[in-house]
Amino acid sequence: MAAATAAGAAAAAAAVSLIACYIIFRSSTPKVPWARTARPSRTSGRRTRRRGLVEAIGNTPLIRINSLSDATGCEILGKAEFLNPGGSVKDRVAVKIIEEALESGDLSYGGTVTEGSAGSTAISLATVAPAYGCRCHVVIPDDAAIEKSQIIEALGATVERVRPVSITHRDHFVNIARRRALEANKLAAAQRESNETQTNGLAHVNSRDKLETMQRESKKTQNNDPAHGSTGMPHRGKYDPSSDSKGGFFADQFENMANYRAHYEWTGPEIWEQTKGSLHAFIAAAGTGGTIAGVSCYLKEKNRNIKCFLMDPPGSGLFNKVTRGVMYTKEEAEGKRLKNPFDTITEGIGINRVTRNFMMAELDGAYRGTDREAVEMSRFLLKNDGLFVGSSSAMNCVGAVRVARDLGPGHTIVTILCDSGMRHLSKFFNDQYLADHGLTPTATGLEFLDK
Ligand SMILES: Cc1ncc(COP(=O)(O)O)c(C=O)c1O
Repeated sequence: MAAATAAGAAAAAAAVSLIACYIIFRSSTPKVPWARTARPSRTSGRRTRRRGLVEAIGNTPLIRINSLSDATGCEILGKAEFLNPGGSVKDRVAVKIIEEALESGDLSYGGTVTEGSAGSTAISLATVAPAYGCRCHVVIPDDAAIEKSQIIEALGATVERVRPVSITHRDHFVNIARRRALEANKLAAAQRESNETQTNGLAHVNSRDKLETMQRESKKTQNNDPAHGSTGMPHRGKYDPSSDSKGGFFADQFENMANYRAHYEWTGPEIWEQTKGSLHAFIAAAGTGGTIAGVSCYLKEKNRNIKCFLMDPPGSGLFNKVTRGVMYTKEEAEGKRLKNPFDTITEGIGINRVTRNFMMAELDGAYRGTDREAVEMSRFLLKNDGLFVGSSSAMNCVGAVRVARDLGPGHTIVTILCDSGMRHLSKFFNDQYLADHGLTPTATGLEFLDK
């Protein structure tokens, strides 16, 4: 009965927070979806002096991609984000999310950052959290590549593998991550209450009992949680919120505007300085939309003539949103299907909803790319430039060539090399996987972009 009450309370809290997010999201949706809303206030995070591991994040080189530049007569430059310590562009986002949360008091030193992500953001949060004296708990679907949870656990974070369900379901991995932060906060509050009662010398039996009950219920809720995967995957160092007296904070990379600010205050200015303001276009694909939004806003603020474009992978609705103002049909909207409503080999990019971060983007247009183009481009870059990049970076380079061809020779185009090919060995760089999906690369040059 008590367990049911605790689980019910957690569900109610999650539902309230979901409804609140929905209301905030709806009320802030502009008529033109990619138009800017009011710019979120800058924080003191801008150009903060950072030390230690965190100091090594950012300031990534802007590499001239010789093969693509020579082929198009443009300067095609790739921001080498795969060189960040956590291996991707998401290191910046992890830093910004944690710093802003610590600054606002939403996260305490020693607290736990939770996130629902199977990708780079989780790895970056796990990498960066200890540098701020924090812990990290990641909830991922149990069909995500096992290497991903192994990496996150090896970094010292705890991982919960759960059954994949729709984002509208309370047990979607993102919703569980949000719930875990709430649970940790409730326990921290109970712990504080218990400590205060003890130090005041009052009868503390009630508050201590309450805390112990909550700790027991919290453990039980997790153990009985139907969301837990049926794969029998071990949870090494499984997260135990009852041991966490410092509370939790849900990173929420899709809707947390710290994501946008990481790129507006950090990536954008670096690109501007590295090109000395001499660039004509920027193109990137969007997952959360943080990169394209932050960088495009910053560059446009510096020079409105810089063209900013979205690069969209198969199945994503953003191309339509940008070019025609509508997403795909209602049936294809995110949340209507159990898993990804499309098949694409690219990871971390493409989405069928407009996030708060993406809403900030200032775009002049959008391009589309196919899986085949991304695969061929990755091999072309390996062969000609020695660049070993992941699927989203390869897609971005396809976009950069499209922009170069449309603008004509003599232009400078910047894109993002989000992560390394090393993160993509089981699919994107797996010959058998590619053969099984009819994606075996065959091109000798850039002819695959002519179709
Ligand atoms: C490897 C990779 N590339 C690109 C992106 C897209 O970046 P953003 O989320 O800023 O739109 C992501 C997002 O998760 C990613 O993991």
